This record gives sequence, structure tokens and C-alpha cells, in this order.
Amino acid sequence: MARLIRHDAVGPAVIDVDGKILEICQCGLSQTKPFCDLSHKKVQGEEAGKLYVYAETGERIPITDMFPQPHKKFAPPVYD
Ligand code: FES
Repeated sequence: MARLIRHDAVGPAVIDVDGKILEICQCGLSQTKPFCDLSHKKVQGEEAGKLYVYAETGERIPITDMFPQPHKKFAPPVYD
């Protein structure tokens, strides 16, 4: 079983725990969750209104056409 989880944040949450500053990943790409490892830099340049997945290689793949926004009419992909 697998699932996709949507993340809209483009940077970490910075919290102070007894004087120690912690950066908590909110972008979903960190390899050291729950802490930020600066992987959020990969989301720079994402276009508003588009949806992306990130491959293990770091490749950004837009999938908006597969999962349309609610206001758009769904048109299933055509396969040959
Ligand atoms: S916020 Fe996710 S890696 Fe920095």
C-alpha cells in the first residue's frame, strides 16, 4: 500500500525548545525527518497551481494533469 501526502510549505518550522533552535521539516522531502536537511531547496521554482512528485533521484515530476484541481474538469490520460 502506498499513499501521497500533499505538502505546500517551502521551508521548515523553526521552534525554540528550552533555548535550542530546531528546524522541523514541513516540505516533506527531508531524509532526516522530523528535522530539516535543506532538501526544501528542491521546491524552489515550483509553479503555483501545479502539483509535483519528487523522484529518489531528485527529479521533479509535475503530475497536475493526473490529479486536476477541483475547479477543473477531469480528463483521464489517454494511453496507446
Ligand atoms: S523544510 Fe523540508 S527539508 Fe527543509
